[in-house]
Amino acid sequence: MFAATIVVFGLAAYVGFRLFTRSPLSNIPGPAITAFTDVWILINTYFERRNRLIHELHHKYGPVVRLSPHEVSVSDPGYIKAIYINNYDKSKFYFLFDNYGVTNAFSAIEKQAHAPKRRVMHQFYSKSAVTAATVERCIRTRLDRSSQYFEQSHKENKAIDVLRLFRSIAMDVVTAFQFGADHGTDFIRDPIQRDLILGKYKVQAKSWFIGPYLPSLAKYITPKSFVESITFTDQWNLDNMRRSGLPPDSAAKKLIDGGFSEMEAASEIADHVVAGHETTAVALTYLCWHVAKHPEIQAKLNAEIRAACGPSDDGRTPSSVLPAFKDLDRLPYLAAVLQETLRLYAPIPASEPRVVPASGMWYSPSSSEYGSKESRVFIPGGAVISMQPWTLHRDPSVFPDPDKFDPERWIDSDSETLHKMNRSFMTFGAGIRMCVGMNLAMEDLKFVTAFIFSKYAVKLGAETTDDSMYMIDRYSTRPKANYCYIHFEER
Ligand code: HEM
Repeated sequence: MFAATIVVFGLAAYVGFRLFTRSPLSNIPGPAITAFTDVWILINTYFERRNRLIHELHHKYGPVVRLSPHEVSVSDPGYIKAIYINNYDKSKFYFLFDNYGVTNAFSAIEKQAHAPKRRVMHQFYSKSAVTAATVERCIRTRLDRSSQYFEQSHKENKAIDVLRLFRSIAMDVVTAFQFGADHGTDFIRDPIQRDLILGKYKVQAKSWFIGPYLPSLAKYITPKSFVESITFTDQWNLDNMRRSGLPPDSAAKKLIDGGFSEMEAASEIADHVVAGHETTAVALTYLCWHVAKHPEIQAKLNAEIRAACGPSDDGRTPSSVLPAFKDLDRLPYLAAVLQETLRLYAPIPASEPRVVPASGMWYSPSSSEYGSKESRVFIPGGAVISMQPWTLHRDPSVFPDPDKFDPERWIDSDSETLHKMNRSFMTFGAGIRMCVGMNLAMEDLKFVTAFIFSKYAVKLGAETTDDSMYMIDRYSTRPKANYCYIHFEER
């Protein structure tokens, strides 16, 4: 009884306090409750409705929407420059991406902490560095190792889980890059190790909400299984780095040479391993799934890739039919299918939160599509402000008929439309904090896609439905069922 009274009093005091203290964002449009409490958006985030909800709120309230007493979402590509290219500091959301208690480029909040890390990494993630012959060879070797699965699907007439296969390929590529070509994982050929490590990452994904959204409570409510699995993968990454002996072709060695301490390098690498494998695998999975459902897209993709391929060296190395990456990289339809996949199925579709500088900022619609220029609102310093690719990529004034998967829009549009589409394309973020691994990811994505469609036609497995492929509503997405069965048939 006593406890209940305390709770009721506490709640009443909280509501009273909130009602009498106006949110500094109360002038921003949004649901009334968001002026008083962040519980509403937290509940929706917990129940995995956030991205779609913010999307609806933008439809209802316009390009700037209040999400809580201290957070707004903007959906106006004219503000990508102000927020991301001018590089507002990140919000506390990113703290939880620290590893070993040490900041890395992704988790660094202030630009001063981020810039020196980025300078070092830029050198070995530049396009020329990641398309060097050694990296290309490394990707081709992993493709050759994976060919047994596609062959098996064809010969045994059975569908295989491509999400798991793509996670293995992406992990083998990304860890070879981090620890050196001879020291990466071999998940493609080692299912025991694969299931152990991917299983640990899966446990972490389950509790995704707590760290970024409830950092102050994380210490008390994080499940034991989550802590155990993080401890395990942290140690696994550190062991991999130490065991590698830091060969010259490893990112680890380049970080250390660039002035990183051992634990700073380890924190960086643990982040790249997780950031690099899941996103790439999810993009490839949605690509295969979508293409499998659309024979007309598949026919064009097959035709373009096969025309670019050469003869095989007697099948000894299956990837030898593929042209050099510089030629793959020029194929327009392959590029367009990938771009459209990354637009509609962005592996990180959610808000990328930043903090408005102390002086605050004015928002007024950047063009008539977003409202009248005269309708200005002030967003005070310290407010969290974000954009989400989910909404930017479904903006009909930039992408007409936005829900249609239409690779041709990247080929046939006039230069002004293309410029608008590219400006709104936020799959890899924007500005100096955008994805440093983008070039490696694109190379991997193009190689795997070309490898598959140079030889196979894809069909959906019976287990794979629109419902099983529903994109879960989290910071980073994946199919709801956590699998995608595809059947490969030699053409
Ligand atoms: C399709 C694949 C990928 C997607 C969609 C993706 C997406 C993103 C996005 C959206 C950001 C910026 C987040 C923000 O501003 O809040 C980011 C940052 C980052 N990504 Fe990726 N990523 C991909 C692959 C990779 C790979 C392969 C690596 C490394 C091997 C990587 C490493 C990083 C790192 C280190 C950052 C932080 C960069 C910085 O702050 O300087 N990512 N990524």
